[in-house]
Amino acid sequence: MILITGANGQIGVDLAEALSVRHGTEQLLATDLRPPLTDPPLVPFEVLDVTDERAVERLLDRYAFTQIIHLAGILSATGQQYPDLCWSVNVTGLKHMLDAARSRQIQLFWPSSIASFGPTTPRSHTPQHTITEPRTMYGVTKVTGELLSQFYASTYDVDVRSVRFPGVVSHAAPPGGGTTDWAVAMFFDAVSKGSYQCFVGPDTRMPMMYMPDAVKSVLDLLDANADRLTVRTSYNVASISFTPAELADAITRHMPSFTCTYAPDYRQQIADSWPQSIDDTPAREDWDWQPDFDLDAMVYDMLTSVARRLGHMSLLDRLSRSA
Ligand code: SER
Repeated sequence: MILITGANGQIGVDLAEALSVRHGTEQLLATDLRPPLTDPPLVPFEVLDVTDERAVERLLDRYAFTQIIHLAGILSATGQQYPDLCWSVNVTGLKHMLDAARSRQIQLFWPSSIASFGPTTPRSHTPQHTITEPRTMYGVTKVTGELLSQFYASTYDVDVRSVRFPGVVSHAAPPGGGTTDWAVAMFFDAVSKGSYQCFVGPDTRMPMMYMPDAVKSVLDLLDANADRLTVRTSYNVASISFTPAELADAITRHMPSFTCTYAPDYRQQIADSWPQSIDDTPAREDWDWQPDFDLDAMVYDMLTSVARRLGHMSLLDRLSRSA
């Protein structure tokens, strides 16, 4: 059986669906601090606070899990506002999962982030092994998690696997409290309002990935032969990098009247401390990582999906005729 934590989050919703197609819903247990998003839930569901060690232990005693997909976490912008909460969920929560994986021989996946890097890291084609001196609490928790993972893997032989996600773009569930959230919000505002006010400047280049590629990266890494894995901190995974101005341009090609304005806030500083593009050579060599979506393919698919979701039929019709 597979335990998913943070199942109501942006990645959790899509990953739970992919895992249920693969393994059947009866093989999954989705958990989150919040109640299920649908009634009845799409997969078996229990409320779980990952910072509550006894609650985690009680749950693990009741099921024979072979895999934990640990997605519960606080993102970068929220983490700056609530640093103690960020530490507790991201570090204490992960430690509970690592301990569970150790004592019960369970394979563990959790996502790290490009936020592990900081202003002293080379920003272009950021290598796998480089300086990790993040300035955000979120980044501090991710580096801590990576080092903990490597320690548990090398000292206790725990099969822990991780990727450093860039900004993930998707439409099924909203991201919450991230610095890369503009890349999702721009699509929803374009379709619902025809305009978007972006919270980072037009030339802020950031590494991004479309959700189908993010899901694929998790599944491929979980499938990989353990003998080939040379990284037990967290693998760099690259896909596309773009600026808000470039994304706005790509949207305008399908929606000529769309306009984007800019009002940078405190998240600009976070974005400026992160890489602009990522070198993911070890992921490509160790487990054959390769993304499928480029910017234009992602934009078309996102606009179509968001138009359908928001019931914008005339846009959907125009998009399908231009395909
Ligand atoms: N998407 C995340 C954030 O912006 C980065 O891991 O916080």
